[in-house]
Amino acid sequence: MTGTRSIHNLALIGFMGTGKSCVGRMVADALHFTFLDTDHVIEARAGKRISDIFAQDGEPVFREWERRIVEELTRRDKTVIATGGGLPADPANLASLKTHALVICLWASPETIWERARGHSHRPLLNEPDPLAKIRQLLAVREPCYRQADVLVNTEMRSLREVMQHVLHQFRMAQSAHR
Ligand code: S3P
Repeated sequence: MTGTRSIHNLALIGFMGTGKSCVGRMVADALHFTFLDTDHVIEARAGKRISDIFAQDGEPVFREWERRIVEELTRRDKTVIATGGGLPADPANLASLKTHALVICLWASPETIWERARGHSHRPLLNEPDPLAKIRQLLAVREPCYRQADVLVNTEMRSLREVMQHVLHQFRMAQSAHR
């Protein structure tokens, strides 16, 4: 599937609370790669928190930021990229990531995601009367996009370290297959 692709980066996709940033940092350390979190890049460029972008400018403006960052990522090398949970819902974003990165999706059930995300107020999409229902709804819509990843890793019964090792192994295998 990754036969003619040039894989020099690693992109982690998946829903909020699946551990993309934590795992991404650990994998970047192990590979001696740069770590980049698309949410952090957007906050730095926009000069405000994501929750403020959503509240003041609206979600479409945030998605436009994401598209712009994804385009720039094509020029990166040796980078582990943690993406915002909604970024791969745009098929063009996913297609672009696949031109330079192995795309690995971290997966978890809605209940686990809610357990991990509750108590964190920085996720505007979960500021809802029934956040678990919102997670279920968003996950159902996004599942077909997440399934387009090269590798799907279930984070349910694994520690962060186990997930990291699994991701690392998959990346090393993909790299050696495309040398
Ligand atoms: C979003 C996920 C968030 C952030 C924004 C929107 C989403 O990133 O990009 O709040 O649409 O699922 P994380 O997945 O890193 O929490």
